[in-house]
Amino acid sequence: PHLQMEEGLGSGFGRANCRAKGGSPGFKVAILGASGGIGQPLAMLMKMNPLVSVLHLYDVVNTPGVTADISHMDTAAVVRGFVGQQQLEDALTGMDLLIIPAGVPRKPGMTRDDLFNINAGIVRTLCEGIAKCCPKAIVNLISNPVNSTVPIAAEVFKKAGTYDPNRLLGVTMLDVVRANTFVAEVLGLDPRYVDVPVVGGHAGITILPLLSQQVKPSCSFTPKEVDYLTDRIQNGGTEVVEAKAGSGSATLSMAYAAVKFADACLRGLRGDAGIVECAYVASQVTELPFFASKVRLGRNGIEEIYPLGPLNEYERAGLEKAKKELAASIQKGISFIKN
Ligand code: NAI
Repeated sequence: PHLQMEEGLGSGFGRANCRAKGGSPGFKVAILGASGGIGQPLAMLMKMNPLVSVLHLYDVVNTPGVTADISHMDTAAVVRGFVGQQQLEDALTGMDLLIIPAGVPRKPGMTRDDLFNINAGIVRTLCEGIAKCCPKAIVNLISNPVNSTVPIAAEVFKKAGTYDPNRLLGVTMLDVVRANTFVAEVLGLDPRYVDVPVVGGHAGITILPLLSQQVKPSCSFTPKEVDYLTDRIQNGGTEVVEAKAGSGSATLSMAYAAVKFADACLRGLRGDAGIVECAYVASQVTELPFFASKVRLGRNGIEEIYPLGPLNEYERAGLEKAKKELAASIQKGISFIKN
């Protein structure tokens, strides 16, 4: 029923048995929303990931073209395309990891919350499919508003009786990527050597960079630098939305961040030790049911959630403000499914 774009099979001349077998385990990954601004570069980068053996590209439009295009890359992952709701189940069956950038992006003047009505419905539909076809898969949710879509996904999975909080992760990696970049700029460092924890959520003031914990190398900032950096990290998304002037939000840096995060999840699934990244997850780190903080990834998804560590006064004040907004966004997501 779906497009078979496996190397060789498409033409009928492939010698399936001749495919070189590498030593590393291959994981099956699906991208839902694969034809979009994030989806396309994300598909390209995942096709380049040696941990991926099968890559499913699902969207409601345009996956035949994206799949044909990506499938010509001479990397090991086998690519298959699926288009439209009636092919969702085939797209999901057997997957180890799902990456979800399906949904509408912001335009200038919009907040992430303005996307709620459209994206909430899309996330619900996709998660109903996941509960039915691959309830054990790790879910990386990118669709905004992440602060609400993760609680929506959790409620859908609870309703279906498949909820495993360790397998549902809201992707906040772009906030970390931005924080590393902007901090490196201020300090005159190579961003590869910068590692800023970003906690809270993924919208405006709920994005809390813990600049006091930037440890590689240890350094300190002036109050002016802290204000500048916090504001730029919290509004990095809006910076891109305005520069794109109506054509969408961050797609290329987001695809990069999504792949960085998905790769960490896959290395965790493989059993690598010490894989720690920030993500928005079901949490007991604060009194809120969902919160972004550092998590350790392993064979079962999240294996440990780390506490926030010591915060300075500036960060404690930011945390209080963030929690208020976050609580409302979480409640909005839960109510969308419950009512
Ligand atoms: P886009 O509009 O370019 O692409 C979205 C894709 O989703 C389209 O191809 C569309 O056909 C597809 N889609 C719509 N309904 C679908 C359904 N029911 N099933 C499967 N696919 C469906 O948008 P873009 O720029 O790729 O952004 C996608 C989402 O990612 C937005 O919600 C955006 O706000 C969010 N985002 C999240 C970030 C984060 O840090 N978590 C950063 C940037 C964007």
